[in-house]
Amino acid sequence: MTKPSNCLSILQLSDLHILSGPEATLLGVNTAYYFDAVLRLALTTHDEIDLILLTGDLAQDPIAESYNYIVARMAEVGIPCRCLPGNHDDYGLMQTILNNRIISCAKQTVLADWQIICLNSQILGEDGGLLSTQEMAWLRQCLDNEPDKHALIAVHHHCLLTHSEWMDEMMIQNSSEFLQLIRQYKRARLVINGHIHQEQDEVIDSLHVLGAPSTCFQFKPGSKTFGLDETAPGYRLLTLYPDGRFTTYVGRLAERLVGLEEHTDGY
Ligand SMILES: [Fe+2]
Repeated sequence: MTKPSNCLSILQLSDLHILSGPEATLLGVNTAYYFDAVLRLALTTHDEIDLILLTGDLAQDPIAESYNYIVARMAEVGIPCRCLPGNHDDYGLMQTILNNRIISCAKQTVLADWQIICLNSQILGEDGGLLSTQEMAWLRQCLDNEPDKHALIAVHHHCLLTHSEWMDEMMIQNSSEFLQLIRQYKRARLVINGHIHQEQDEVIDSLHVLGAPSTCFQFKPGSKTFGLDETAPGYRLLTLYPDGRFTTYVGRLAERLVGLEEHTDGY
């Protein structure tokens, strides 16, 4: 697919859950294999990607080996990449290792008519999300300081109900405060999140909130308790126009997920 002229092409990859070794599996799934496969699919499907966003849970084993694996993949690709933490990540380690010319944890990136703001919704030692007072102040500062830029806000945890009870217990605790702040800024166009391992696409007035599939296993939509789905791993592509409009596309592997085990009690 060719990128329209004057637009930005942003690739969102989420919930990679990379493990300590390339052969290791989580719930029976080789997460590194599927990350590589989804990345390859996105790069062969879309021309001229300007930025890759990794929206949390980069690692299931938050150790140097996991993050170094991602650094090596991104070095091969050579496209600028921004990372933010999920509940499974070690953000301090991410900031140390994911820190070179190609890949970083930079929280604000200005590109053409847009700014991309990356937030940290992690609560140390917990699975749920929260935007701290400091993080909310940072968001407000970014929006105040770039009043002419359209904003894409990326965060790991979800801010709208998915209607999966077990998942919604982990939603951003102060999501109404978060959405209230964003909606004060007309140029804040989009919130994108990970964590939910499924697609979501909602609109509140003119603000769009989009959830992404995982690059490994997917969660069963509308499930009261933890449940896995056989839907294939995927990515989200966003095309951002100079006037603040956008289009989006979710791509998924043609191959079925191999190895997925029956689990009922989480991961
Ligand atoms: Fe995840």
